[in-house]
Amino acid sequence: MGIEEEVARHYGTAGIAARVLAALREAQGVDAPVTVDALAPLDQFHGRGPLATRELVALLAPQPGERILDIGAGIGGPARWIAAKCACHVTGVDLTREFCEAAEALNLATGLADRVRIIRGSALALPVPDGAFDAAYSQNVIMNIADKALFYREAFRGLRPGGRLALSNLCAGAGEPHYPVPWATTSETSFLATPEEMRADLVAAGFEIADFRDTTAAIQEAQQRNRERLQQGTLPRVAADIILGERAREMQINSLRNTEEGRCAMVEALVRKPG
Ligand SMILES: C[S@@+](CC[C@H](N)C(=O)[O-])C[C@H]1O[C@@H](n2cnc3c(N)ncnc32)[C@H](O)[C@@H]1O
Repeated sequence: MGIEEEVARHYGTAGIAARVLAALREAQGVDAPVTVDALAPLDQFHGRGPLATRELVALLAPQPGERILDIGAGIGGPARWIAAKCACHVTGVDLTREFCEAAEALNLATGLADRVRIIRGSALALPVPDGAFDAAYSQNVIMNIADKALFYREAFRGLRPGGRLALSNLCAGAGEPHYPVPWATTSETSFLATPEEMRADLVAAGFEIADFRDTTAAIQEAQQRNRERLQQGTLPRVAADIILGERAREMQINSLRNTEEGRCAMVEALVRKPG
């Protein structure tokens, strides 16, 4: 089995949209409206959930009417949030069939199907025309990508001249991560580059670096809060719990240990395709 099939097998389970909607009703009542705000803790599948998306959006600064590409869109939470809050059109590309199906169901449930389009495909051969997007972003995806140079070249190709790319990337720290983690069951599908390698790959793809910051400390703080939640074993649930099911607790605890022990780092960056 190739890397992409393994990655999709790691993430994909049946019935994700139904589980997300059930968790929403459990948290907010049977008549809870299905809005991007209500779903935000439940459909954004990355450390720090909506808080991290807000930071990435502040970096990307999407403008009304812009065409935005989400590379590795998951179940579409960040794409819906940005489409709704910034009045943009977002196209999400993702490898995992069950995630694309869940994203489409949740687009319909939130009334955003006309502004968020989902395409099943690979970040390494983006199913989009050259120069089609004003801006792009990718949140917690690169750790599943072995060929990062190709990932950045594809993002570059999809952007118009002057287009920007915002990234929230898990990076390598010192030492091997403990597995399983939310993004990989074993090291076979986990590929962490150092922040220096990330910067070099971006420059080699042709990007100009506008902003590049280490946000590991912010992650550590949030993970401390998550540790308390996991130790108590209580609600509120987050996207990782719903998507990963029984496996989530051990994976999230390993994630906490990896950050605490300096095995993983986090980088947020904004880069531009020269205009
Ligand atoms: C941790 S999830 C993050 C999802 C989403 N960005 C979010 O923050 O909610 C990682 C996502 O990357 C996707 N992915 C991993 N490798 C990919 C590839 N080569 N092409 C497209 N998507 C990929 C997975 O299917 C998964 O949806």
